[in-house]
Amino acid sequence: MDLLTKEVWKDDWREMLDTLRPHRFINSNNWKVGNYVNVLQYKDVFFIEQNMNTMFSAENLNLLEGKNTIPAMLSMDGKKHKDRKVPLNNFLTSPDNINEIVDSYFEKLDSEYDVHDDLGTKIVMEILDQYMGIDKKYSDIVTSQIMYFVINQNEKCVDLYNIISDLYENPNGLTAITKQISQSKEEFIGNMFLLISGFFTLGSGIELCHLYGNKISHDSDDRFFKEAIRIFSPFTHSIRRSLVDWNGFPAGTIFVIWFNSANLDPDKFENPHKFDPFRENLNNHFGFGFGPHRCLGRHISNTVLSRLVYKMRDYVWEVYDYNINRHPSVFIQDLWVSRSKR
Ligand code: HEM
Repeated sequence: MDLLTKEVWKDDWREMLDTLRPHRFINSNNWKVGNYVNVLQYKDVFFIEQNMNTMFSAENLNLLEGKNTIPAMLSMDGKKHKDRKVPLNNFLTSPDNINEIVDSYFEKLDSEYDVHDDLGTKIVMEILDQYMGIDKKYSDIVTSQIMYFVINQNEKCVDLYNIISDLYENPNGLTAITKQISQSKEEFIGNMFLLISGFFTLGSGIELCHLYGNKISHDSDDRFFKEAIRIFSPFTHSIRRSLVDWNGFPAGTIFVIWFNSANLDPDKFENPHKFDPFRENLNNHFGFGFGPHRCLGRHISNTVLSRLVYKMRDYVWEVYDYNINRHPSVFIQDLWVSRSKR
């Protein structure tokens, strides 16, 4: 079974992962990646992440599986990777203005709204505008073409590619740092695509909070959105290559590590399908990855999601329609909710 194809991800994807996980490793073949091994259990994902750069590598493997990958920090190892990551991390650790952005969009909402269009996308576009100089007027282009990028249909991203190319000539804020750390224009574009898709993953996080909105309580606080991320894992998987023989697989094997499967592994999380913000080991989830490639946007994401949950607590929520577009994209589409003041 090739888990990198969209067809296998149906509404019952959690059941599918539960069926596959006991097999531990599953060999697959994909027309873009070639032979690869799916890693489904928590302990193995942990092992690979923990031994990055020594026993496993991300070098030349993009989050976009496929051959015509653009260089980006996610496909680099060691010093090369660190030199790029640290300056961006510093910028993204204490972002200004975030609470105001969340508040202003949240407060404008009607009692019924589509979380994807009316909130998630808007907050993300505002952040892209303020931090990366990507004008909100490009919202339609950015939202549709970043989706093509994530599912590796790069040929359909021409307009977004052009918007990013223009920023190369006139960078500021996060874009200026991205230019500074990138060795070429091509790499700048790769890193920018990566950052933009990160922000849209955050859009999915915003939507997830609504999916479980009726479970918010005043005492669950930040635990609430962490549990939403654990149970749903908007960033589903990543790719590594082994540098040594491991578990009977020769050096050079490509492993796809499934964060969404590890996050539902009953050997790690008791009653994994239960939404329980008070579970003891909540912080051990892999929703933001782990190890050297751990999410660069996790601080800004935590800030946005904390604020959102804080605002959401004053309402009662009902989800009345949703369509979750699972793998290979990380994004959610169409999530209609209604809210009423407590
Ligand atoms: C709820 C929101 C988010 C989730 C669940 C998420 C998830 C992840 C995960 C699982 C990884 C690890 C990938 C791997 O190990 O191969 C990752 C890496 C990354 N994320 Fe996020 N992400 C989120 C938000 C963001 C945001 C807002 C940004 C924008 C700054 C971002 C930028 C990145 C980048 C650049 C990497 C690569 C880091 C590296 O290679 O060292 N992410 N993210």
